[in-house]
Amino acid sequence: MAAVSGLIRVMERAARKAGGRLRRDFGEVEHLQVSRKGPADFVSKADRASERTLYDELLQARPDWGFVLEEGGIIEGDPTKPRWVIDPLDGTSNFLHGIPHFAISIAAQEPRLDGKGWGDVIAGVIYQPITDETYWAEKTRGAWLHDGRLRVSSRRHLDEALIATGIPFAGAGDPNEWVKIYAEIGPKVAGIRRFGSASLDLAWVAAGRYDGFWESNLQPWDTAAGCLLVREAGGFVSDWRGRSDPICDTQVLAGNDALHSRLHKLIVGALKG
Ligand code: IPD
Ligand code: CA
Ligand code: CA
Repeated sequence: MAAVSGLIRVMERAARKAGGRLRRDFGEVEHLQVSRKGPADFVSKADRASERTLYDELLQARPDWGFVLEEGGIIEGDPTKPRWVIDPLDGTSNFLHGIPHFAISIAAQEPRLDGKGWGDVIAGVIYQPITDETYWAEKTRGAWLHDGRLRVSSRRHLDEALIATGIPFAGAGDPNEWVKIYAEIGPKVAGIRRFGSASLDLAWVAAGRYDGFWESNLQPWDTAAGCLLVREAGGFVSDWRGRSDPICDTQVLAGNDALHSRLHKLIVGALKG
């Protein structure tokens, strides 16, 4: 049974408050006033309201911590304290199309000891409002779904692996790169899924539902909490070169040790030359 820390309680409380509001707004999705942020990237009133709720709750709980907000940008805090990295609605296109697969992602990232920039993610919460599921992890304390410990899957062979991905869309990502990688991986695995919420893709790798995940061109708020979840569930996260970074937003390859290494070889082979 997990001993839930004060930090996780603060994060979960904020996520549940914002998530309750998203749930209500999702029920009235047709009536939402929607504005375009970029091609295929919509920002809804619900998105902004969720971010505001998270900001208010977390600021009250930790007044001197800074923020990296998808919508609001960077808000500096005390540089010796952690900062929040937040996606108030991950899966916006799903939300706007009435597809109940989206989440709130909150991570706490600590400053580097040498004071030069930002270091490890120390805690992450991914809350799925429609299913009321809270995935959470704390550095060195494991990954959890409520009070159940999460472990990445134990499948070792590609032909039994279900792999999630994110497909480039208008204005985001490199379709040629994705096609090359898919051509190597797709025919060798049991299935490929593209559900449209990178934070949940990573949470589901941590939960052993997916056996692996790859996507490029993500943002820190998409991956910060999810990468910690996968690592704390015993998995590996790296970029295409195999380098491990606390957040791995530019290129994310996640899976258990065997599948991470197999998928990594396939990606390297797909992109060489
Ligand atoms: C998006 C989702 C999606 C991923 C996109 C992200 P948003 O986030 O995580 O799965 O493929 O690259 O931008 O816009 O819904 O917060
Ligand atoms: Ca996102
Ligand atoms: Ca978002």
